[in-house]
Amino acid sequence: MTNQLTLIATAAMGLEGLVKQELQDLGYHDLQTENGKVIFKSDFSGIARTNLWLRTADRVKVLIEEFNAYSFDELFEQTKACPWEDWLPEDAFIHVVGKSHKSKLYSVPDCQSIVKKAIVSRLQEQYHIHSRLEESGVRYKVEVAILKDRVTLSLDTTGAGLHKRGYRIDQVEAPLKETLAAALVKLTNWTPDKTLVDPFTGSGTIPIEAALIGQNIAPGFNRDFSAQEWDFLPQSIWDEALEEAEDIANYDQPLSITGSDIDHNAIEIATNNALEAGLADLIEWKQMNVKDLRPKSDVGYLIGNPPYGERLNDRDEVESLYSSLGGIMKDFPKWNVYILTAHEKFEKHYGIQASKKRKLFNGFIKADYYQFFGKKS
Ligand SMILES: C[S@@+](CC[C@H](N)C(=O)[O-])C[C@H]1O[C@@H](n2cnc3c(N)ncnc32)[C@H](O)[C@@H]1O
Repeated sequence: MTNQLTLIATAAMGLEGLVKQELQDLGYHDLQTENGKVIFKSDFSGIARTNLWLRTADRVKVLIEEFNAYSFDELFEQTKACPWEDWLPEDAFIHVVGKSHKSKLYSVPDCQSIVKKAIVSRLQEQYHIHSRLEESGVRYKVEVAILKDRVTLSLDTTGAGLHKRGYRIDQVEAPLKETLAAALVKLTNWTPDKTLVDPFTGSGTIPIEAALIGQNIAPGFNRDFSAQEWDFLPQSIWDEALEEAEDIANYDQPLSITGSDIDHNAIEIATNNALEAGLADLIEWKQMNVKDLRPKSDVGYLIGNPPYGERLNDRDEVESLYSSLGGIMKDFPKWNVYILTAHEKFEKHYGIQASKKRKLFNGFIKADYYQFFGKKS
């Protein structure tokens, strides 16, 4: 098998640009951005490096093949023509997932089962097996994605999504995905020498992701990826990626990051999560109502994910919260304030018009990322 691969980093809608930037920073060029994904070329080492380093992507997949298919026969034959034996051993446990959009082959369960049959048939021929495949070995997740009759077959290298960093041992209600929290930090101009405050910290996701970024710690340092179980991948790609991560982490970088929340329990959870992430003393945690927030410096970054007031009876409380925060931050005009909320009237209650807004999805909830740039001194 050739060591030249086409990899696909998938991303939540709206985060493709950040993923592209991250890939460029990792040294990958010739990147192709599409809805929800960035496609790039790499050798085997890219599987390890991108899984370990991408902060805002959901997962990394290997592109196996792309072709048009308008009938189940075509889907079967073209899937069977792919060199699956290069990737899957004879005892592979083959798990096929699928999606289809605006295509003749719209029945996803049928497409999945045809792809599975085609792969099994190919492996039986290649491995000279005349009975059923045992499928007693490592799990391989194949995805068949069909868009406007164009089929993309890919193999997942990640396993549990990249947001599962391994540090979140507990969480509050409605936590941010770690990938989105990293994106919120990356969408600001914050640099690790600047003060950063999250006054609605919940499980502590924003401060923890900021600290990992600030000290250049690889977000996947604390976890495994499914491709680590693939015997044909040299162990050296994982060892070298971890070595590189260890070499370039900057554990000496001082940080001024604080997470606060009105809820005691949230602060306990955030503290434990930070401990698990190995960031024990790096972040200051405190129980505080945002109404008591008084920034200690006249310049800094506030990044927050307050309650949105989705339940009707929470609305008044949430709106008064936004207006208290706006009232406080008016006295700190050099602070850069970034708020993610789905409340459409946020600016009205906050009392200041945002310098910029960006649409993002928090899970399935469409939200706006309101950005208030601080006055330059
Ligand atoms: C959407 S959650 C934040 C989730 C967090 N980003 C995470 O990843 O876990 C909103 C948080 O705001 C907190 N909160 C609500 N009212 C508050 C107030 N008046 N002052 C400070 N925090 C408050 C809640 O306790 C909750 O933890």
